[in-house]
Formats: sequence, structure tokens, C-alpha cells
Amino acid sequence: MGSEKVIEEKNQGQALLTEKKEGNSKKLYIESYGCAMNLNDSEIVASILSKEGYNTTHIIEEADLVLVNTCSIREKAEQTVRKRLEKYNAVKKINPRMKVGVLGCMAERLKAKFLEEEKIVDLVVGPDAYRDLPNLLEEVSAGRDAINVILSKEETYGDVSPVRLNSNGVSAFVSITRGCDNMCTFCVVPFTRGRERSREPKSILEEIKQLSEQNYKEITLLGQNVDSYLWYGGGLKKDFKNASEIAQTTAVGFAELLEMVAVAFPKIRIRFSTSNPQDMNLDVIHAMAKHKNICKYVHLPVQSGSTSVLKRMNRQHSREEYMELIDNIKKIIPECALSQDMMTGFCGETEEEHQDTLSLLEYVKYDFGFMFAYSERPGTPAAKNMEDDIPLAVKKRRLAEIILVQQKHSLYHLEQFVGKTVEILIEGSSKKSDVHWKGRNSQNAVAVFPKGDEKIGDFVNVYIEDCTSATLIGKRI
Ligand code: SAH
Ligand code: F3S
Repeated sequence: MGSEKVIEEKNQGQALLTEKKEGNSKKLYIESYGCAMNLNDSEIVASILSKEGYNTTHIIEEADLVLVNTCSIREKAEQTVRKRLEKYNAVKKINPRMKVGVLGCMAERLKAKFLEEEKIVDLVVGPDAYRDLPNLLEEVSAGRDAINVILSKEETYGDVSPVRLNSNGVSAFVSITRGCDNMCTFCVVPFTRGRERSREPKSILEEIKQLSEQNYKEITLLGQNVDSYLWYGGGLKKDFKNASEIAQTTAVGFAELLEMVAVAFPKIRIRFSTSNPQDMNLDVIHAMAKHKNICKYVHLPVQSGSTSVLKRMNRQHSREEYMELIDNIKKIIPECALSQDMMTGFCGETEEEHQDTLSLLEYVKYDFGFMFAYSERPGTPAAKNMEDDIPLAVKKRRLAEIILVQQKHSLYHLEQFVGKTVEILIEGSSKKSDVHWKGRNSQNAVAVFPKGDEKIGDFVNVYIEDCTSATLIGKRI
């Protein structure tokens, strides 16, 4: 989700936990790369195809249809997908009736070029065209290549109930907006996911109700830019001529949506991602402060600590405005955890501008961070108008420097929990030990503790005795 958190290259064809639909005979293998929004989209695709007779499988060799939901955010993400296509090619040699489709951002970016470049691909479908999959599959079975990459101003898949593919049965993603209108100069998302639109609150609340009936305990409201969520009856927000026109409608903004969800589902933990500093207003922070079930954690990507770099990136705020927002969040919710996305080596980044990023890190002391070297994306305003002039070695050295500072702060924040009791939602067994549970606290810090008679999905109080650089270690009290 983008950010959302960038879980690039990690979300691979995970086992399906929901029941298989009786009577379905065809097998779908679906893999997702990139952001949480992609994971959620794959769940929407599985739901659409379940009505077409497909159950999901995690054994690629037995699949009738292999779909890969792709990411274009950095060049490396695209290379990973190309590598996977080679793997599918090998499988297709054993199972020639298997069809292969490419979904998501690479499909949208490369369009028909995909069919030319990758002979193995039968089907190319952009993020707004998944409802067309049944028709496209008919084309494929008639022996024709099929493609739909039309972006929509309306599509939100609001009425599709996602099949929870990657779920631990405890936390789930709920999409609330699609697309992005921001046009940060480095970013491919506005081109691959189209214009921003918001989903009707009623269908969001219905989806959460279903999740709560299925015993889910935590939801994450997803969007490229959740703070610009605005529902006033459908279509593009930008169709309104001015703010007062919006105000005259019974519009629902993000802070209101958050409150609606918090009040309607007091037993569910609520998270959200991603916020954009330019659109985040303090109403959201006040809503977080007011409701115990809204997690005290904000992911607030900034990309750079330098006002001049932010300007070149077309981010609509200065370093000082961002610092003011951070100060306000800390004032209203002192215990709030904060995280960042940062990018090193953007076009023209001087050593001084890089120092500004380091000093912003020191100022905010984020709990977590997601840091990247700038990767030029074809077709973006930066690729068209600016020179990607920072040598890779310099980008990487600067990246290593900011990662080092972030690691120091992450450890510092975890250490603050030692000697305290925190409420943990149990998500499953610890990866490293079968006799320990793993879960997260409100601030999104991961904790492990010895198993007792609790079960997955329980909220428990854990006394934190120690920590590593990434994990709290404690015991239940
Ligand atoms: N909507 C989200 C961003 C989605 S992309 C937001 O506003 O934060 C997730 C992250 O990927 C971005 O925050 C940025 O740090 C990184 N990213 C985006 N484009 C990139 C590029 N061209 N090169 C390197 N990193 C990039
Ligand atoms: Fe990309 Fe900026 Fe939107 S980073 S997703 S264009 S807010």
C-alpha cells in the first residue's frame, strides 16, 4: 500500500484459510507482491473468481489459473515479478493447460507490452478491471490473449466480500479509498492506480460487521492516502468546484469515518494506513485520542527532511510544517507511535539536503521506518523532467546512514516498554518458537511471550521484561 506497509517480495501465495466453496472444481493460485492494497485486491479477485468455479490452492503445480498481482513502485519489485514468470514457465511445461495472468500495477503500466514481452502471459488486467475477469477468462479459453487496463473513476469493489487469503483469522484489511491524485514526482501510483475515489461508508461498515461476526479482532483501513477520504455520494471528489460546495453536502471525511467505525465496533482494534502529512488534520488525531480501540500509531511518510527536496518531489508541505504536525500529534497523544517512509538520493539531492533528513530523524525519533534508495520510474514527472543524477553508491551510502539512525531509535522505543505492562492481541505462534505467542500492542510493537491457556485472537496483558532490536519479550500477567 505502498506504503501501507511495503511488504514487497514477501507476500507469496499464502495458504487459504477460509472454507472452499462446494462445487467449485477449478483451481486458482494467486500471488501478491507490493503493498497491503494489493493483498486486499487479491482477496477481491479470489472472491470474484469463486463465483466462476475457482477455489484457491497454494500448490502451483495443480493450478488451472495462476495470477500474479504485481508492484511497480521500484524497479526491483518489477524484476522480482519477471523472475516469478520464469518459474511459472517451468511449471507450465509440466502442466500446459495452466493459464497465467498478470494483475495490478505492472499490468497497468506495461499494458499490451506485457503480452509481447512475456510469451507465457495469457491475461493482463489492471487494478480497476477485476470485475471483467470472467469475460477475459472466456477470451483466454477461446485461445485469445485478453487484456483490460481501463482505469475507473468509480470502481471501489464496495460490494465484493474479499475471500480472506492471507489472514491469520484475527486481523484483516478493509479498503476505503482507491487511487491517488497527489502526483508526487517520483511515484508511479497515480499512473497505475488512477484517480482517487472513496468507498461508501455503509459498505465499509458492512464489511467490518461481517469481519466482526467472523471473530476478527483488528482491522486496518487502507488507502494510498486515507486522510483524503471523502464520501459525498460517489465519483471523484475533484468534481466539486470548491470546498464550500462539499461542506453543503452530508460529506463524511476520514476523521468521521474513523469515529463511525470506532463507535460501531468498540471491541475491534482499528488501524489505518497510509496517512499523508499534507492531508492529515488534527481531527483524526483527536478521534484517535477519544477512542481506546483506535490504535495509537500513525504511519506518516515524509520522504525527505529537506524542504527543497520536498518541493522537487511535489510534496505539499515543508520540513517545518511536518515538524509542527509531529509536535501536535505528540502533544495530543504522548504515547503515539510514529513511523516514516524515507527515500535517499532523489534527483539533485545534495549532501546538505541528506543531512536535513538525518536531522529530521533525530528530531522525530520514529518508532519504525521504511527506507528506500530512489528508483526512477518510467513516465513519472521526475523521469521526464529531472535527472536521476545521484550515483547508486551514494544513494546506498545515504540509505545505510538513515537506516542506522532509525535502528537506534527503534531500539530506544522498544526499551521504553521494558518494565511496563502492555495489552497484546495474540496473532499466532512466534516464528522462532512453538511455545511462544506473538502479537502486537496498540503502538504496533511486536511482543512474544510463553504460551499458557490463551488462544489466538485473545487480548492479554503482558509484562515486558526485555527486548531485542525488533521484539518485546515478556510474560502474561
Ligand atoms: N501513498 C503512500 C506511498 C505509497 S508508495 C504515501 O503517501 O506514503 C510507498 C513508499 O514507497 C513511499 O512512501 C516511498 O517512500 C517509496 N517510493 C515510492 N516511489 C518510489 C521510487 N520511485 N523509488 C523509491 N521509493 C519509492
Ligand atoms: Fe505516490 Fe505520493 Fe500518492 S507517494 S501514492 S503519489 S501520495
